Formats: sequence, C-alpha cells, structure tokens
Amino acid sequence: MVFTKRDVVDIIEQNRDALSDELQNRAERQRRAVFGDSVYARGLIEFTSCCKNDCRYCGIRASNKNAVRYRLSLQQILECCETGHSLGFRTFVLQGGEDPGFSDAELCEAVSRIKERFPDTAVTLSVGERPRSVYRDFYSAGADRYLLRHETANEEHYAKLHPPQMSLKNRKRCLYDLKDIGFQVGAGFMVGSPYQTVYDLAEDIVFLEELDPHMVGIGPFVPHRDTEFKDFRRGSLNLTLVMLAITRLALPKVLLPATTALGTIAPDGRERGIRCGANVVMPNLSPLDVREAYSLYDGKICTGDEAAECIMCLKRRLESVGCRLDMSRGDSPVI
Ligand code: 5AD
Ligand code: FES
Repeated sequence: MVFTKRDVVDIIEQNRDALSDELQNRAERQRRAVFGDSVYARGLIEFTSCCKNDCRYCGIRASNKNAVRYRLSLQQILECCETGHSLGFRTFVLQGGEDPGFSDAELCEAVSRIKERFPDTAVTLSVGERPRSVYRDFYSAGADRYLLRHETANEEHYAKLHPPQMSLKNRKRCLYDLKDIGFQVGAGFMVGSPYQTVYDLAEDIVFLEELDPHMVGIGPFVPHRDTEFKDFRRGSLNLTLVMLAITRLALPKVLLPATTALGTIAPDGRERGIRCGANVVMPNLSPLDVREAYSLYDGKICTGDEAAECIMCLKRRLESVGCRLDMSRGDSPVI
C-alpha cells in the first residue's frame, strides 16, 4: 500500500508508546504471504575497516584515531567464503569502509574469484559511493547485489550527519545508477539518529516508495564512544519496529533484515523485528580476530561467536517466532 508522509507520521504517533498488535500483525501477515516461513541468511564479511569518509555517527570514520584498522587479503576473504559455503551459505555480503587501499580492480577480482569458486552463490557488495563506471565494472565482475543505505532522505538532516563533501544527491545518484545497471539494490536508514524527526522518517518511506529497492536495511542508531555523537541517545526499539512494519507494508516484497544493531539494543530485538515483517538475518563470517575492530557502534553483538554458533542460535531464535532459517540465495522476488 502507498503511504503519504502524513500517513507515516500518523502511524508513528499512534504507535509512539507501544507498537500496536494491529500494525505488527498486518506486517507479519504480509511477510508470510510473500515469503512463507522463510527467513534468509546472508553471510557478512567485513573485509576492511579502513575508510576515507568521515560520517559523524560511524565508529570507523577516518578521523577516529582510536579505530583499529585492518584489511583482509583476497586469500582471507576466500577462506571466509569457504567456511561460509560449507556451513550452507549461498550468499555473501562483502562490506567495508570506502577504502582507497583496496582498489576497484582488486574488488572486482575478489568478486570474480568468489563466483568462480562458488558459482551457486550470490555476491553482494557494500562499499559505498563510487562512479557509475565502477559500479558497472563490479557488475561485470559478477556482483549481483549492492547495499548502500541512504541514511536519511531529508537534505538538511543528511547534512547534519555527514561532512560537507558528502551529499544526499550523490547518494541517490548512486542508488539509481545501481538499479539501472541491474543490481538488486538495498537502501535504508537509521532510526533515532541525532536530530532526526518523524518527518524525516516519513520522507524515508516516501523515498523508498519512489526508489522501490529490492532490500531495505533499517537499524537503530547506536552511539559510538569515539564519535562526536557519543552522548546522543540510541534509537528506540519500539520506533525501529514501527519503521520495519511500515516498510513491510509499503514494499510488500522487499528483503528486510532484522539487523545486528537491532539485536544489540535488545536481547530479543531481531526476533521482534521478524515479527514486524523482517525476513533476513546476516550472521558474521568475518575472521574472529577482526570482529571487534569493525566497530561502527558500541556493544555490537556476536563479535565473539563462530559463524556455526550464530547459525544454531539464529535457528533457535527464528523457530521461537514460527520461522525457519533459509540458507538459499534468497533472490528478490521482484527481479
Ligand atoms: N549506529 C547504527 N548504525 C550505524 N551505521 C554506521 N554507524 C552506525 C551507528 N553508530 C550503519 C549505517 C551504515 C551501515 C553499514 O551501518 O547505516 O550504512
Ligand atoms: Fe550470533 Fe546468536 S546470532 S550468537
């Protein structure tokens, strides 16, 4: 169903204190109608914590001198995939900062090597803003999907979260280019980021309706101790759930992760996200010794758990809400 900005603001107001059963049930029914009891698993590989950008909310921003920087080698990335593949994963997400030390050519090589070695998998990149020609090269190398959260669809709010060199305009240009090239595209935003208003959240939904992405990543803002936003409050669990439910209803077929950030602010955050329409989980396949260093926000869960343990844990959690961990590629139903 199509929501106007007014509709979104009204729903947020109506569910301000507690998410209503009605909204949750509608979102959950919608997920079931499209995906049944499947919740898709994506193996996340955080391959570089180096970043040239300076997003004000992010723990790996360039100006954070305390951040531990690492960069996996091609060999290490392939080993993560090897482990993931033997655990049953059929899709890998290579995520990292905008790291000039990892060239576009090297990234293309990583993608094509993964596809060569594991032809039955889908590869997702999440490496930020690039020129259209580079996105085309990534696509030619075999990348299937691309995640790039828009973070906020309001210009003024965007400017408060990012340094002056970054713009919402370029962010949107990237998303439209990616879609046009043929990627399954993921956008998304944080809930409760500093200076965010309900009108900004309404704009996020209206923007998503216009972009019509295949995937949407939504998680609460969680402060990081080494950023200037360290004293801001984290986003609320309730509001994050409300935004997940609205997104499920606005984009019925979208792939919607119950994010690690959601699991970080509440022990049962991800299960509750699933009950509000989320249908993807992204266990971490990064080598254990670098997990702590990929610190976008404080308190991130699962940094000490082997992927195999996370799978067991997630299976149990999903079963508790009537779902099943689906390890298949989980392509978007709208391609
Ligand atoms: N809190 C929550 N999410 C964050 N991200 C970055 N920093 C934070 C934070 N402090 C999210 C951004 C980014 C994704 C990879 O992680 O939305 O797109
Ligand atoms: Fe990682 Fe529960 S999902 S330990």
